[in-house]
Amino acid sequence: MAVPDPPDAPERPAPLRHRHLLDLSTYEATELRHLLDTAQEFRTVLDRPIRQVPTLQGTSVASLFFEPSTRTKLSFSLAAGRLSAETVSLSKSGSSVTKGETLKDTARNVEAMKVDVVVLRHSSPGAPHFLARCTDSVIVNAGDGAHAHPTQALLDVLTMREHVDTFKDLNVSIIGDITHSRVARSNVQALTTLGAQVTLCGPATMLPVGMEDAMDVRTTTRLEAALDGCDIAMALRIQMERQDEGLFPSTREYHHQFGITTDHLRRHPDLLIMHPGPVNRGIELSDAVVDHERAIILSQVTNGVALRMAVLYLLAPQREEA
Ligand code: CP
Repeated sequence: MAVPDPPDAPERPAPLRHRHLLDLSTYEATELRHLLDTAQEFRTVLDRPIRQVPTLQGTSVASLFFEPSTRTKLSFSLAAGRLSAETVSLSKSGSSVTKGETLKDTARNVEAMKVDVVVLRHSSPGAPHFLARCTDSVIVNAGDGAHAHPTQALLDVLTMREHVDTFKDLNVSIIGDITHSRVARSNVQALTTLGAQVTLCGPATMLPVGMEDAMDVRTTTRLEAALDGCDIAMALRIQMERQDEGLFPSTREYHHQFGITTDHLRRHPDLLIMHPGPVNRGIELSDAVVDHERAIILSQVTNGVALRMAVLYLLAPQREEA
């Protein structure tokens, strides 16, 4: 049987003004749209019989994941593979960090192996910014503490864009532990830059003070108020490890006050549901909502591969022919 030729990559767009993707605070609307448009092109590659393009042949991508991950880690690995880049990965438990090696020394050793792009997940806010200062590799933030998760926010807005014509009239509510959520912070940056209205909702103990003025958002402690007039509700994972901090009385109580159920879907017939994952079924969302046709959670995951292809494609150093 004849093997079809590999498909062409989308025509190479202009590179980004930024060298790294650390957070979205300095990305302007034109750059965000450029990333989203490029990701949309790659989304079509994922539906082709051969889902690989030769664009990043000769480029090497190292994933350093010092915190657990399913979606981000696998989708960066798939994205690099779909672009024909060479990939290596390291987890905290399998690395010499367990023998006391510092993050800086780890990254400098990775760089000495001629790696071009480092994808970093780390529990310390600012760890990717630190690496960007002390190595020459391109750094992509795959989640740093409670600070930022830029590729998650970009894949979220990419998924929203499949359902709306413009961000200008879009009302998005983000529900959950806003204080500790890097997903919320990056989504607020992306959505407000693109012109959407954002409402943040959660128990008072999970809503940072001063957020309304600092980030141009609305806040509420009432789920119904967050869902009124809302087009897309994004529920955030309740971090069980924080239950000892007394942020909410019990998961049952949290679900009662902030969990989205099919009753909410009935009352808001056009509402779409998103969640960055991993979902605690029966807490942020009822079981039936997770599997409901208006939950676009798995589209977020598929779009994550295309979006991360776009990020690697636009940030990887361009190679001249030898
Ligand atoms: N959304 C997200 O970051 O999921 P993972 O922790 O599984 O990567």
